[in-house]
Amino acid sequence: MKIIDGKKIAEKLKSEIANEVAAMIDKDERGPHLAAILVGDDAASQTYVASKEKACASVGMTSSIYRHPSTITEKELLKIVDFLNSDDEVDGFIVQLPLPAHIDENKIIQRIDPKKDVDGFHPINIGKMVLGLPAHISATPQGIMMLLEQSKIETSGKHVVVVGRSNIVGTPLSILLSRKAKNANATVTLCHSKTENLKEICKSADILIAAIGVCEFIKADMVKDGAVVIDVGMHRIASHKTQSGFKLKGDVAFNEVAEKCGYITPVPGGVGPMTIVSLLQNTLKAYKKEVR
Ligand code: GUN
Repeated sequence: MKIIDGKKIAEKLKSEIANEVAAMIDKDERGPHLAAILVGDDAASQTYVASKEKACASVGMTSSIYRHPSTITEKELLKIVDFLNSDDEVDGFIVQLPLPAHIDENKIIQRIDPKKDVDGFHPINIGKMVLGLPAHISATPQGIMMLLEQSKIETSGKHVVVVGRSNIVGTPLSILLSRKAKNANATVTLCHSKTENLKEICKSADILIAAIGVCEFIKADMVKDGAVVIDVGMHRIASHKTQSGFKLKGDVAFNEVAEKCGYITPVPGGVGPMTIVSLLQNTLKAYKKEVR
């Protein structure tokens, strides 16, 4: 079994981005700027936004965070989106999800200028992705595609099973993997809560992608010998053994699955760092106006 070191791959890609940004700044250009809107005080969202800010700094990009209490109204939030849409100094921005229940997430996402939608959540970007046109592609699926490519894992003709059909991960990833394109051409099965014979389907996967959002859902008896296992899950489990008071686990029961699979991504240090790199790449694309 080989561990796919997402952190190492992400560091390599980040250094390429950093070189590109440094060359821009050398030429007296202002350099790319990523903004984030953070509503409320959800601990996981705070951590995600802080790591995006840190990643920007590490490659020389500017970042800014617009923090608002969970009492903000939908109308006020739409105004902030409008403000960032028209700010020429901001190349791309994200609205960290989830939003409080009184705000319609779809309405907010659809208000973002697709050119600045570096999360790739806007219907225009999703539609362009489906058609294979230049688009901002959702960061986690794009990160997983790069992880497979950089690890030289063949996808063409392989049976990929994606467990979980979220708008952010499972659905776009199933489309990217099945496209007629380099590092794709897979035969994809997208599984979800109504799937029958889930265990047998997972066991038939050459590449199994767990994006179900349930801690350690994928057990060893659901995995074919030698399969590639990609774990998208991220769960904070209370632990008295760590200084932070919690440890991170994925959607895959790592220890038992690692014993029989061919490749596996760890949590942390697998998919997570690649997601952040994808967001930086999308910001760079927005800055260079490669997505119109
Ligand atoms: N919440 C969990 N993942 C994401 C993400 O990739 N982007 C945004 N905006 N919110 C999230």
